[in-house]
Amino acid sequence: MRPSLSTLLTGIAALAALLVTAPTAHAADPPLRDLAAAKGKAIGTAVTGSKLTGTYGDIAAGEFNWLTPGNAMKWGSVEPTRGNFNWTEADQIVAFAEAHDQDVRGHTLVWHSQNPSWLTNGTWTPAQLGTLMNDHIALEVGRYKGRLAAWDVVNEPFNEDGTYRQTVWYNGLGADYIAQALTAARAADPAARLYINDYNVEGVNAKSTALYNLVRDLKARGVPIDGVGLQAHLILGQVPSTLQQNIQRFADLGVDVAITELDIRMQLPSTAAKLAQQRTEYDAVVKACVAVTRCTGVTVWGFTDSDSWIPDTFPGQGAATPYDENYAPKPAYYGIVTALGGTVTEPPVPAGCSAAYSVPNQWNTGFTGNVTISCAAGSSLSSWRVTWTFGAGQQVGQAWNATCTQTGAAVSCANASWNGGVPSGGSVSFGFNGTWTGSNPLPTVTLG
Ligand code: XIL
Repeated sequence: MRPSLSTLLTGIAALAALLVTAPTAHAADPPLRDLAAAKGKAIGTAVTGSKLTGTYGDIAAGEFNWLTPGNAMKWGSVEPTRGNFNWTEADQIVAFAEAHDQDVRGHTLVWHSQNPSWLTNGTWTPAQLGTLMNDHIALEVGRYKGRLAAWDVVNEPFNEDGTYRQTVWYNGLGADYIAQALTAARAADPAARLYINDYNVEGVNAKSTALYNLVRDLKARGVPIDGVGLQAHLILGQVPSTLQQNIQRFADLGVDVAITELDIRMQLPSTAAKLAQQRTEYDAVVKACVAVTRCTGVTVWGFTDSDSWIPDTFPGQGAATPYDENYAPKPAYYGIVTALGGTVTEPPVPAGCSAAYSVPNQWNTGFTGNVTISCAAGSSLSSWRVTWTFGAGQQVGQAWNATCTQTGAAVSCANASWNGGVPSGGSVSFGFNGTWTGSNPLPTVTLG
């Protein structure tokens, strides 16, 4: 049965109007670092030293209380040819952090990647390799002794199946290179928290279980290990459901846990719906850390899409960080805000814009829904989201000209890439197929 005109008009009159659009300012009030500090957590970002001026520098300093050099402390960066050292960028980042009351995570000492070619192309006896590794750690950790809060001592030691990765270190020194590296790092700076860091170890799986067993065994042997870094290079829609459980099991071993390289990548182009989902997922990841006392905090791997490794490494993917290329905070930024206990104040919808829900067609168990978003002369929108709660068990199916998701009775529909703009005095519509039984009352929709 079609709703009568009077039902429709009543429904329209009852519309609530509220707009959710991302403010264009590049700092929220309060900034992330204040929210994190109030929770006793770190909020960090990887940085590129040469960019630490202007807006990039303002955000890095204003929003974050930890920094990780994205590349500057890797062996290939600091000793490109044997015995010739370049500490310029690493020193600059540490000085910047000290000037802005930030902690630094050193990254990284012993890895299979981004090593100098003189090292990887050389032929070394196990004894020579051990000396090279120990001397490198003594030199680099010693250089920053007392100034770095933590070190990723060993990076990415495992294969996906939980076996050890065959690297120059493993092949030359055996699995014990990890204990040797940690011991050397402790000797060089007793105050730094020493971590093993890896990717695809965020959920409970074969690789994270291998890491778990290693940490347990190192602790049992008295090897200095203070923490585990979960890199968290995640894919939109694939946040592991066991993230918090996994953080907790490491914490229960008596080590700290840090999320060290968070980004959530998506297939480009980004859409309003993907960015909204990314916000939810940033919120979920940060919340999982906030929920576990020994989770020390979260570092994002670059805070802006203009300084992210994703487009180069995963062609066709990107938009993985909390700020866009122009340093405007994305929905993901507000996901971090809410996870850290902040409130997001959304600017109101222009008074002249509203959404109207109607059921143009209905049959035994199905119906077609239509929503029209209209703005009076003098008001406009550049993106929109319409939400409502079904009152009688209805279910949204396929939608057109919007992306809709339903959780329980709650429905949220975001504009498609081509119809986010509603001009002054104009309107856009989207539709969907739905199912109903018993009755199909019109919900009250909210424009946001
Ligand atoms: C990445 C950097 O962000 C890139 O600039 C560089 O080209 C490659 O390395 N895991 C790590 C980081 O531990 O050091 C990597 O950083 C990303 C994956």
